[in-house]
Amino acid sequence: MKALVLFESFFGNTEKVARAIGTALGLADTDVVRISEIKPAQLDGIELLIVGTPTRAFQASPDTKAFLKSLPANSLTGKKVAAFDTRAEMTDKTPGFLKFMAGIFGYAAEPVNKQLLKKGGTQAQTPGWFYILDSEGPLKDGELEHAAEWAKGIK
Ligand SMILES: Cc1cc2nc3c(=O)[nH]c(=O)nc-3n(C[C@H](O)[C@H](O)[C@H](O)COP(=O)(O)O)c2cc1C
Repeated sequence: MKALVLFESFFGNTEKVARAIGTALGLADTDVVRISEIKPAQLDGIELLIVGTPTRAFQASPDTKAFLKSLPANSLTGKKVAAFDTRAEMTDKTPGFLKFMAGIFGYAAEPVNKQLLKKGGTQAQTPGWFYILDSEGPLKDGELEHAAEWAKGIK
């Protein structure tokens, strides 16, 4: 199976997760590519597409949203798809209004997943999320292993 893992990453955390996922897939042919560097035509021949983005202002990154929008209708028909995000872990120290806003507006993985399905993709795994400790990281301990497990759950 030919797989493509697309990621956006400002501080390197989502890239680390994307690379861990790419490795854990255990496939002979997997590319892990920054989303701004890919053209929709490069999806030809891909059987599994995974899209990962940092959650920013409760949404996917601008480049991720632009890429998804640029995909022609039904361009993912016959392809397996999955989405993941990185996000800040809520703790006792997280301001209440942020928890409230996150409760209403959510995170990036779910809407990215919806877009992938809307473009014709077949769900390969439920949306995944991986925690970072501060706004710029690092990743919470164990999250790369968590990402590898998530990748191994792809059907
Ligand atoms: C401008 C900005 C907005 C952010 N908004 C959110 C948010 O709405 N929810 C959240 O959980 N984390 C938020 N974060 C934390 C990011 O999710 C975190 O920076 C990201 O996971 C790091 O991944 P990266 O190193 O790949 O960029 C925000 C961070 C920044 C800098």
